[in-house]
Amino acid sequence: MTQPRHTDDLPVEYGLLDSGELQRRIADRKRQLGRDLCLLAHHYQNDSVVQFADFVGDSLKLSQQAAATDAKFIVFCGVHFMAESADILSGPGQRVVLPNLRAGCAMADMADPDDVAAALDEVRSAGGGRVVPITYVNSTAAAKALTARAGGACCTSSNVANVFRWALSPEGGAADKIFAIPDQHLGLNTAIALGYCADDGVLYDPAQGRGGLTNEALARAKFILWKGHCHVHQVFTPADVAAARAADPGVFVIVHPECPRAVVAAADAAGSTEQIIAAVAAGKPGSRWAIGTESNLVARLARRHADRKVSLLSHSPALCWQMARIDLPHLLWSLDALATGEPVNVVTVPDDLAREARVALQRMIDIRPAEAASPEQARGTTKITKHTKSTKQKGK
Ligand code: 13P
Ligand code: SF4
Repeated sequence: MTQPRHTDDLPVEYGLLDSGELQRRIADRKRQLGRDLCLLAHHYQNDSVVQFADFVGDSLKLSQQAAATDAKFIVFCGVHFMAESADILSGPGQRVVLPNLRAGCAMADMADPDDVAAALDEVRSAGGGRVVPITYVNSTAAAKALTARAGGACCTSSNVANVFRWALSPEGGAADKIFAIPDQHLGLNTAIALGYCADDGVLYDPAQGRGGLTNEALARAKFILWKGHCHVHQVFTPADVAAARAADPGVFVIVHPECPRAVVAAADAAGSTEQIIAAVAAGKPGSRWAIGTESNLVARLARRHADRKVSLLSHSPALCWQMARIDLPHLLWSLDALATGEPVNVVTVPDDLAREARVALQRMIDIRPAEAASPEQARGTTKITKHTKSTKQKGK
C-alpha cells in the first residue's frame, strides 16, 4: 500500500453522482472491504450516513469501539478530534480515516494547545493549591497530551461527573481545583450537579491576560472554566423551556449539559447523548419529550419512538455544520481510496503526542459512564466504577 494522500479536495466526479448511485456504490465497497472495515458514526450524523454505520455512538462509545475493533481500517464519520482519539486508541496496524478532513469541531478549536499550556502556568502561579485539568474529549490531541502531563484526565459528557469526582478525590487527581477545558457550560453544569454553586467557578478567557481574572479570584476558585462552547447547544434558551411547558404541562424537558446553565436549570434533567437516548427509550408509550440537543438525533428518536411525542426543544434547528461535512460523496471517495490501496484523509497523531494523550484518554475510559439520565444523575449521584477492559497500545 502506498502512503496516504492528505487532501480534502473531493474529486469532482463524486459530486456529480446522485444519491441512489452513491448509496449503491458505498454498499458495494462495504461488502468488498468486509471485515477490514469498521465504519463508526456519531449520533449527530444524518441518516444518509448513519445507515452505513457498523456502530453508532457518542464520543465515549465510539472511542471504546475504536479501541476494541480489529479492523484494518476505521472510517470515522464524526469530527477530527474523534478520529484523533480513534487513532490514539487503535492498534499499530490500523488506520483511521476521516472522510472529510475539514470536519473539525469549533469548540475543540477554541482551546489552542499553546494557550492551554500558558493558562495552566498562570493558574498554578496564582496559588490556591493543586490544579488538575479535566479536558473534554472535544479537544485536540495536543490539549489531551498537556492534560496528561499536568496529572489530569479527559472526560465525555457521559462520564464527566465521575471524572470530576476522581479529580477531587485524594486517591484520584488530588485536586484542590479543577481546570475544565474547553466547555465552560459542561464544566459549570457538572460542578453544580456535584453540589457546588456558581460562585465556586470563574470563567477563564484565553483572549485576556491571566484569563481576565485576578490572582485572588483564580486562587479562590474551585472550578476554572475555559471560555469555550458548542454553538449547536447555544440555540436553546430558558424561554424555549417555558414555551414547551406552556404548550404541554406534562412534557419532560431533557437537555445536553453543553447547554447554558440557565437552560439546564430550567429543564427536568440533563444528560449526555447516550443518556438522553436511554431516557427516551425507558419512557412510557404516550410520554412527551422536549429535547435540547442536536437535531438529527432528536429527529431519529422521534421516528424510533413513534408511540411517544418527541420534539426538539427549540423552533430553530440545532445542527453541527462540521459533522455535516461528512456526506455520501466524501464517504464513497474514502472507501474507494481504501479499496484501491491509496487511502485518503488518514488521521495520524504523532507517536510522542499519542503516547501522552492516551494516558488522559485511558483514565477516562477506566471510569464507567452513567447508564441513563435522571434528576439523580444530574445531581451527581452516579458511582465511579472501574472499567475492566484495557485498550490496545499503538506502536512503540
Ligand atoms: P457526546 O458525544 O459526548 O454526547 O458529545 C456531544 C458532542 O458535542 C459531540 O461532538
Ligand atoms: Fe463540536 Fe458542537 Fe459539533 Fe460536537 S456538536 S462537533 S462539540 S461543534
